[in-house]
Amino acid sequence: MGELTRFGISIDEELLQAFDRFIEQKGYGTRSEAIRDLIRATMVEDTWERGDDETVGTLTLIYDHHQHDLAEKLTDQQHANHESIISTLHVHMDHHTCLEVLILKGKAREITRIANDLIATKGVKHGRLVMTGTGHHHH
Ligand code: NI
Repeated sequence: MGELTRFGISIDEELLQAFDRFIEQKGYGTRSEAIRDLIRATMVEDTWERGDDETVGTLTLIYDHHQHDLAEKLTDQQHANHESIISTLHVHMDHHTCLEVLILKGKAREITRIANDLIATKGVKHGRLVMTGTGHHHH
């Protein structure tokens, strides 16, 4: 570790209380220790998400199938990325709601890009990508 620098953070009282409970559960001795770890973890994850490592990921999407053209747009995007999307599961949850789970395989940054495009499509209510290494090197 290099030289230590102190800096102040402005934070919502309730958020800080929740954070203190969180770090106690995780067994951190001090807030500083917890914050250092979180900063490192976030940056490592970000580097990995933008990296060349081969990975597999699952993307879960929830969307309203009545939203004009949405299902078609999502299908178009999936066809455009067919080399990375190896499987899709579609479940009609109720009259309006569709759940889609995509399995993606390829470079981490490519999977992240495809997932972000799909999640950002207008009408998608919720989306979450979970990536897992394929056993090659990464953090
Ligand atoms: Ni459906």
